[in-house]
Amino acid sequence: MSISFGGDYNPEQWPEELQAEDVRLMNEAGVDLATVGVFSWALLEPEPGAYDFAWLDRVLDRLGAAGVGVDLATATASPPPWLAHRHPEVLPVTADGTTLWPGGRQAFCPSSPVYREHALRLCRAMAERYAGHPALRLWHVGNELGCHNALCYCDMSAAAFRTWLAARYGDVTELNRAWGTAFWSQRYGSFDEVQPPRTVTATANPTQQLDFRRFSSDEHLANFVAERDVLHEVSPGVPVTTNFMVTSHIKELDYHRWAAEMDLISNDFYVTAADPEGYRELAFCADQTRGLAGGGPWLLMEQSTSAVNWQPRNVAKQPGELLRNSVQHVARGADGILFFQWRASQAGSEKFHSALVPHAGTDTRVWREVVELSRTLDRLDEVVGSRTVNDVALLVDYQAWWACELDSHPSVDVTYLDRPHAVHAALTDLGIGVDVVHPDTDLSGYRLVVVPTLYTVTDAAAAAIDAAVRAGATALVTYFSGITDEHDHVRLGGYPGAFRDLLGIRVEEFYPLRSGERISLSDGSGADVWTELLHLDGATAEATYADGPLPGVPAITRHEHGEGVAWYAATRLDQHSLDALVRRVATEAGVRPIAPGRAGVEITERTDGQRRWTFVVNHTDTDAEVDVAGHDLVRDAAHDGRVPPGGVAVIRR
Ligand code: GAL
Repeated sequence: MSISFGGDYNPEQWPEELQAEDVRLMNEAGVDLATVGVFSWALLEPEPGAYDFAWLDRVLDRLGAAGVGVDLATATASPPPWLAHRHPEVLPVTADGTTLWPGGRQAFCPSSPVYREHALRLCRAMAERYAGHPALRLWHVGNELGCHNALCYCDMSAAAFRTWLAARYGDVTELNRAWGTAFWSQRYGSFDEVQPPRTVTATANPTQQLDFRRFSSDEHLANFVAERDVLHEVSPGVPVTTNFMVTSHIKELDYHRWAAEMDLISNDFYVTAADPEGYRELAFCADQTRGLAGGGPWLLMEQSTSAVNWQPRNVAKQPGELLRNSVQHVARGADGILFFQWRASQAGSEKFHSALVPHAGTDTRVWREVVELSRTLDRLDEVVGSRTVNDVALLVDYQAWWACELDSHPSVDVTYLDRPHAVHAALTDLGIGVDVVHPDTDLSGYRLVVVPTLYTVTDAAAAAIDAAVRAGATALVTYFSGITDEHDHVRLGGYPGAFRDLLGIRVEEFYPLRSGERISLSDGSGADVWTELLHLDGATAEATYADGPLPGVPAITRHEHGEGVAWYAATRLDQHSLDALVRRVATEAGVRPIAPGRAGVEITERTDGQRRWTFVVNHTDTDAEVDVAGHDLVRDAAHDGRVPPGGVAVIRR
């Protein structure tokens, strides 16, 4: 078994003669997996029902003959212009009624039966044609489902939404209760009166918005499942995936509901170039992807060799950054490193996106780094199939993310991912591995459970966190957690309703801070954004506010609960202060680092039960001292205790 290496291959954009050179270069670069056909629908089916597979046959044959496996797209990602020309009702519509026209990609409504019918017909034709092809390794449904059409508000979507609501609530009285429609005269007499949350006067019903997101995620998932079932039927034994977008700027789909339907979890991740510490988001999202994969290996379906084309300033990667990013993904469970895309396009809106083969050809830094990366990954092949065992679970939930960031909340400065990222960074800098998992995950093996900004939580999840602490785990909860139930109704009796008993506190009122206002705590910590009028109800105050609107009120609390301990941070500690709190909490919880870390040095581990591999990624410009003994697979030499600036090591222990 080996770490897959390769990327999206779009030969249809080039003269066919170039393919011979493509496969020669793929062999030179050690490419063993190419994603083919993602945006080929218009070429494969130039007219409805008339297929032209000949060119794709030749591509697959050529790749197969060269030993390059194929991740074959069902080609349903982007319908050809003829579909909307004949069936304009297939086009997606925004909340304010604007139709999104062809000319970009993914111009279809996820609830469109016309799209579904045409997509399934193509999917079946692809499966029948290529099920037995020797190069076929993996099926790739659509592409980044919901990337541009996650939420569609057209009449077809409205009808499907009503059907979905009727199935969820049974009768409209239940919907009225769940949506709190006694407010503002919103009571519905029947499901027929219900609309998607189209542009409204004032502010829209929050539960209507939440349910619409749930519905929309389910609609895209249903499209995936429909294609997957065809593939399973016609092409049994070949795994089926679709590339997720687990990243900090996309929250459209509830991947926790999707994960169980996948044969293999795959993800696309692009580093935010404007963020000098963009590697931190990568680390978080890779841990989250592993969580979706149930702790097992997954595939990085796309990243960039250097700059992308869609950020405001598309900064090129520094020398060595590609290696570090790639090893970060492997360290956190990826068993394959693929890219968008093989050859940089000459035309189209992505022509300035980097690729394995740049516009300037192979006498380039990027190409040399690609070849070098491939050789390095070859030396890491023995980690394939291994897993990660961590003491810390950090809970994330797309539905809590959606609800937390709805309008009309106490402060626009409370954003969902802020605390998960900050705590993840604090733990990572300590050299502690983290599993980023859904609240429904079995928490029994964890010493520390982090509950950051889990604004919406179900009774069941709250009870499981409580039970884990009673049984001896430590919890660290941050502000704006446990506030509402799954209908986004406030849990009464004092905040945070779901975690009052766990934390031994009762919060009477929120005191958000003004923009830019900074406060300090009795222990010297600094904070901003948020404070709460908090009363102790069994907990002890570990720090109080020294200033701000609530001097003397507890800001950090600790509560012994059953066999365990529950901590609460009621304010937005600055990173330095949060680092200190996390160090204290983790130490007290008996969570030990893999090896002592420091800011900018990632230390993580994979194991197959017999062997352990310690991954070190040094993002800093000084040596990282990492005192573990073993063989460094990257240098193929004994690890000498240091990893150079910008360097990586994978130490077999
Ligand atoms: C992804 C997409 C690819 C390509 C890439 C550019 O969202 O799946 O097709 O567009 O971004 O970064």
